Order: sequence, then C-alpha cells, then structure tokens
Amino acid sequence: MQIARTIAEFRALRRGARPPLGFVPTMGYLHAGHRALIERARSECAAVAVSIFVNPMQFGPNEDFERYPRDEPGDLALCEAAGADLILIPPLHEMYPAGTSTAVRVGGLTGVLEGAHRPGHFDGVATIVTKLFNVVTPDRSYFGRKDAQQLRVIRRLVRDLDLPVEIVDCATVREPDGLALSSRNVYLSPEERAQALSLSRGLRRAEEAFVAGERDAEALRRLVRDEIEAQPLARIDYVSLADSESLAELEGRVGGPALLSLAVRFGGTRLIDNVVLEPPAAG
Ligand code: PAF
Repeated sequence: MQIARTIAEFRALRRGARPPLGFVPTMGYLHAGHRALIERARSECAAVAVSIFVNPMQFGPNEDFERYPRDEPGDLALCEAAGADLILIPPLHEMYPAGTSTAVRVGGLTGVLEGAHRPGHFDGVATIVTKLFNVVTPDRSYFGRKDAQQLRVIRRLVRDLDLPVEIVDCATVREPDGLALSSRNVYLSPEERAQALSLSRGLRRAEEAFVAGERDAEALRRLVRDEIEAQPLARIDYVSLADSESLAELEGRVGGPALLSLAVRFGGTRLIDNVVLEPPAAG
C-alpha cells in the first residue's frame, strides 16, 4: 500500500495503477462500513484507492468539523487489511488553495432533507467529490446507501457533468443490534446509544407494515416517529417518505419505490438512517 500526501505524489502513483481503478472517498475514522466499501472495490477492481480528507466545506458553522474524530494510524491499518493499494491524504491548502472561488452545486435534489437542515452541505460534498474524481480519475467509485441523499446527489453530478466514473452503491452496514455504523457513533453516551436503536427499529416497523400492505405515506412516517418520540433523549430533525428518485415528499398512497429516511439528534450528535420501500413488481 502506498500513501500520497500531495496531489502530485498521488498522480505519480496513479500512473502505475492497473485498470479498472476503484475509489472509496472517505473522511477517515474508518469503520466496518468503509471496510465493506474497500473490500467490494477490491473484489471488482484491479487497483483500489482510498482518500482520507475531512472536508471543511461540507460542515456548517455550528457543526462538528473541529471535533470530527480522526485516527490516521487506525485508518491506514484498516485500509491495508481491506486491500487498498493507494491512499490519498491531501493537505487542506491543496484541496482549497488560497483564493478558491469555484464550487459545484447540484440543484433540485439538494433543497430537501439533509440539504434543508444543513444549508451548503451538498455544495461542499459535490465540490470535494468532483475535485477528488479529477485527482484520482477512478473508473468506479463506491458509496454507502446510508448517505442516501448524498448517493443521489453524486449520481446526478456524475450524469450532469459527464464525469467518466461508474457509481456503485453498497448496503448500509449495521451493528448486530441494528445501529447503522457511523463515525459519529463514538460521540453517543451509553444511554443515547441505547435510545438510538429506535431509529433502525422504527424503520424496520415501517418496512414490516409496508410489506404487510400498508401504503399510506403518513401512516408509515408515523410508525417511525412514534418509535423515536418514545425516547426522551431523541430530537427528530425529520422523518421523510419521499419518491426514491426525485426526493419529492409523498402524500397519500405510496405507488413506487420510496425512500424512508430520518435524521435525529441525541445531544450534539446527529444520526441519519434510511430504508428504501419497494412495492412488489406487478404481475
Ligand atoms: O461520505 C463521506 O464520508 C463524505 O461526504 C465524502 C463523500 C467522503 C465527501 O467528503
């Protein structure tokens, strides 16, 4: 495994990588969810690159950029064990040179859900992902379904700007008790963590109701909210049931694939999770 700490170093290493190159962009503090992305890339690509960069542009002024967890030695060990070949750890001044005045904005999809609660977040994500794609020039890039809106924004970005990369989405990895893996889980107190299980429990209840035939959008959202509102430490930002493609909020009967997603705060920690509800194909 080779580590590049500048863009120039990475580009030099990249020239020796056999195609196809798989790429997993990360903000570090890697966990089993990232490992699954790297392993998937490993199984499908001749070479695998991972970037580690905590991107200030996707954090709001009152968010956790300063205290975002960091563990470079642990990250490198996980990358090595998962089979990564190239690591890019770019310095801040190279990703955002003084006087940077260009940003990438994906319209439409970004005004709702995470975008509505975190203004500017997806401009930061779209900008850094575009820059990383330009530096890494991967053939395929791997993203987790836990960041459901991010995944849709990146697919739109790639389509609209004709970026020559295939986006591969991978299942959310969960703890055995259902909690979706997140670098932010480390902030949770034992009590908050226990109550945070209501997120996956609520989604599961709604999914079971959907499979049993419940199609009313508000009834499905209510099942999730009831589960979470029973937890005294939980503060809901949103529980949404939206068209899985357009992310338009659904009312009435759910007819096509729908994204049931949520964001919930426990103290200063904000967690997201989701599930896609797919009506069975007719016939
Ligand atoms: O999902 C993440 O970890 C980040 O949003 C990403 C894609 C690495 C961009 O900073």
